[in-house]
Amino acid sequence: MSSTAPLLELKAVEKRYGTRSGGMGAALMSRFGLRAPASEVHAVRDVDLSVRPGEVVGLVGESGCGKSSLGRLAAGIARPSGGQIMFRGENVDALDATRRRAFDLGVQMVF
Ligand SMILES: Nc1ncnc2c1ncn2[C@@H]1O[C@H](COP(=O)(O)OP(=O)(O)OP(=O)(O)O)[C@@H](O)[C@H]1O
Ligand SMILES: [Mg+2]
Repeated sequence: MSSTAPLLELKAVEKRYGTRSGGMGAALMSRFGLRAPASEVHAVRDVDLSVRPGEVVGLVGESGCGKSSLGRLAAGIARPSGGQIMFRGENVDALDATRRRAFDLGVQMVF
């Protein structure tokens, strides 16, 4: 185990999306005996992850398992429904403007 402190840490991170339910689509589906879509998608469930300086982490999984959702959470583009995201030991949600800027510059998507 490395003694270097983590740069980025995810603790028990969750992401739930509300989906559209009801309306014409659901009524039509019901008319034809189909089940309406779930009202909530639990895309990321209880994820712990830590990334140390210089470390490369790969995330592999079947389509729809939540890889992009987790990436968006780690990059600060989306907010978690639960759990904590820490950058240099500080909760990203509680950063002041200056530290939030450092996080935004330090953790980015590379398209
Ligand atoms: N903005 C959103 N609103 C509602 N549901 C969403 C949203 N984004 C993703 N989802 C759902 O969350 C789940 C995880 O999606 P995500 O895109 O994170 O998976 P993925 O592992 O990146 O898939 P892929 O390999 O196809 O890119 C899926 O069921 C998806 O339909
Ligand atoms: Mg994806």
